[in-house]
Amino acid sequence: MSDFHRPSRRAVLGGLTSLGLLALTGSLAGCGRQNEVQLPAAPTAALPIPPLADSRVEDGVRVFDLAARPGTMDLLPGFPTPTAGFNGPFLGPTLRASRGERVRVRVANELDEATSVHWHGMHLPPEMDGGPHQPVAAGDTWEPEWLIDQPAATLWYHPHPHGETQRHVNLGLAGLFVVDDQDTPAGLPGEYGVDDVPVIVQDKMVGEEGGFLLDTSGNEIGILGSTLLVNGARNPFFEVSSQRVRLRLLNASTARTYNFGFADSREFALIASDGGLLASPVPLASIRLSPAERAEIVVEMAPGETIMLRSGRVELGAVAVPAAFGGEDEFDVLELRAAGELAPSPPVPGTLARIERLRVEDAAGLRDFRLADRKINSKEMDMGRIDEVVRVGSTEVWEVRNTNPYPHNFHVHDVQFQVVSIDGQDPPPELGGLKDTIYLEPRRVYRIIMRFEDYTSAKVPYMYHCHLLLHEDEGMMGQFVVLEDGEPVPAGIPATDH
Ligand code: C2O
Ligand code: CU
Repeated sequence: MSDFHRPSRRAVLGGLTSLGLLALTGSLAGCGRQNEVQLPAAPTAALPIPPLADSRVEDGVRVFDLAARPGTMDLLPGFPTPTAGFNGPFLGPTLRASRGERVRVRVANELDEATSVHWHGMHLPPEMDGGPHQPVAAGDTWEPEWLIDQPAATLWYHPHPHGETQRHVNLGLAGLFVVDDQDTPAGLPGEYGVDDVPVIVQDKMVGEEGGFLLDTSGNEIGILGSTLLVNGARNPFFEVSSQRVRLRLLNASTARTYNFGFADSREFALIASDGGLLASPVPLASIRLSPAERAEIVVEMAPGETIMLRSGRVELGAVAVPAAFGGEDEFDVLELRAAGELAPSPPVPGTLARIERLRVEDAAGLRDFRLADRKINSKEMDMGRIDEVVRVGSTEVWEVRNTNPYPHNFHVHDVQFQVVSIDGQDPPPELGGLKDTIYLEPRRVYRIIMRFEDYTSAKVPYMYHCHLLLHEDEGMMGQFVVLEDGEPVPAGIPATDH
């Protein structure tokens, strides 16, 4: 039994008394499969904070360097775990830039195979997107450049090579891209690594020889591992020095959906979703995040106290067997230890952002997307096919549904969308802001609205897909091009000449 299965006693009690959880599940889905080993309990470790990436300004452009390279990690004594990371052995630095800046990233591929780097959640030209049409060959460098022009947000980057995304991300190739802007209200915790803390959560299946397994034979959705890594560390704690701390949560898992909350069920303020700050903070006791979703939360602490961020049972919707998809798993994520004296923090501002609501009346059309098996609208991904044609400047409503009895989610490149309705009802407040990825409960009808602006190309498409990476790799992805008004629709996408 690892510590992942059996949370510390304090957390267990907290969970039982306050979260109202019935009992600890005996094991996580994915356990007991042939080759996964249960790591011995890990000693607590200080939460590693991904460094802020160095950058320099050249001719008015902020330039970053990222190098994807192999590494190792020590999890199983005597068996180093092969990993990969950017500028280090696992994960990557946090890139940070402000709205209005031009950025360029020199992406060097020091792996022995092609990869790519996609800027998840970013509004940018399709040539810079880093999807399957922008592979970076082993030994090559790729230098996308674009203007940051979107609200402050916690975005992220990860490889997107067609068919290999799950493996590359699972090895550790992922990092945050934090966008800042002038409009962020004063009063939010904002000192990186001090009261503004990245929390990148991934579950891993560790094999008998130390490697991360890609054993997805046991269920429909992919890897559900019993080893939890938070910023690459097991069993981490963070020393809180201020009254309020902001956590930037990223679900960087390939398949698992989490339900984050505190062991004592205390309320926190949800201040931002994928694409930026909410209009006003939403008090919550838990937040569900499916793969690739982010949430920024602010939690208040008392001097000297210790609280556990956990993931509890998660409502996956009308899935056949919740336990088979991790729905009943409960485990510790991050212990927050408050110092005996805490620097005072102002209360969370009541107004966070002005979100321009897109109106259904302004929408050019309604498109239907049905996710089933490994297909969207009965089609498997084809790099040469254009599935949808969007006109630049238009607002569109997309109706999306999952017709399988197991989890899917839906991610759209280039835009941040707003949720119009779920089964015709208003979305819950936590889905009231900007989103680029949304969990799809089976059989429910999600309507999302978005506007496609600025960038067009008849040659390079953007993607939409399920962000459960096994599904994405197996073809649950489609392509759209954004064209000028009246621009003729090309027959297909030319093969990537690289
Ligand atoms: Cu996070 Cu198409 O990806
Ligand atoms: Cu899926």
